[in-house]
Amino acid sequence: MDQLERVAEWIRRVGPQKIAVLTGAGVSAESGIPTFRGPGGLWETHRPEELATPEAFERDPELVWRWYEWRRALIAKCAPNAAHLAIAELERSLPEGAVITITQNVDGLHRRAGSRNIIELHGSVVRVRCAREGKATDHPEPFDQVPPLCECGALLRPDVVWFGEALPPGAIERAGEAVSEADLVIVAGTSGVVYPAAGLVHLARRGTSVEVNPDKTPLTEACAFSIRATAAEAVPGIVAEIARTVDSRQ
Ligand code: OAD
Repeated sequence: MDQLERVAEWIRRVGPQKIAVLTGAGVSAESGIPTFRGPGGLWETHRPEELATPEAFERDPELVWRWYEWRRALIAKCAPNAAHLAIAELERSLPEGAVITITQNVDGLHRRAGSRNIIELHGSVVRVRCAREGKATDHPEPFDQVPPLCECGALLRPDVVWFGEALPPGAIERAGEAVSEADLVIVAGTSGVVYPAAGLVHLARRGTSVEVNPDKTPLTEACAFSIRATAAEAVPGIVAEIARTVDSRQ
């Protein structure tokens, strides 16, 4: 019996009602957005300390913005894939608040797929904020010039979390609570090396976590099930199984 079938059988037996979905860059890989680590990953050809730290932004805001404008343009051209769509469908098919998506991704694809109960642990490139006053606004369109300026004259910055910065206030606490209350935790497309996000997996109740990743990760041992497949291959199947158990309960 393969792992997906094992998970399906477990879902039929347990009938999970509160679900947390933890996602990383791998979930967007099949939408055409490069991951950070591994072959072809962004951190293979770019140095994070030159592009994704507050010090880098202070040193050379134009360079940092050029990189973000490149990524924002790439993301704008990409569409949610079967994994994003299945997660959004799962949220719609269960009672409000029963499904929460906790993502490290800054691409906004969960939202574009239709998910609404989302915690964006690392922010979003679709939003920008004033580097001085902190006010954030949606701004998916490209800027005419970089670095862009706020009305107040200060620099705007992407509303993302850079290395060395704190996560948005309350985000990790809310995420931790959701994971520890869930009776199914899907961990999809993350290398599990960036904390505090990776630490959330350890808060899952015993026997409730399912990893979806083509490769083994440091989180594999902590997960009850590991499906060695891509997100678009495996997540729709898991969601379909949950939908069937929900239907059979009604
Ligand atoms: P990584 O790039 O570190 O890891 C991507 C993971 O996705 C790897 O474990 C791959 O094996 C897996 N993967 C690749 N293709 C996949 C697919 N089609 N389906 C499922 N899994 C696939 O990305 P994250 O874990 O998200 O932070 O990285 C965490 C954080 O590190 C990011 O949020 C970013 C980065 O530096 C900041 O910028 C603060």
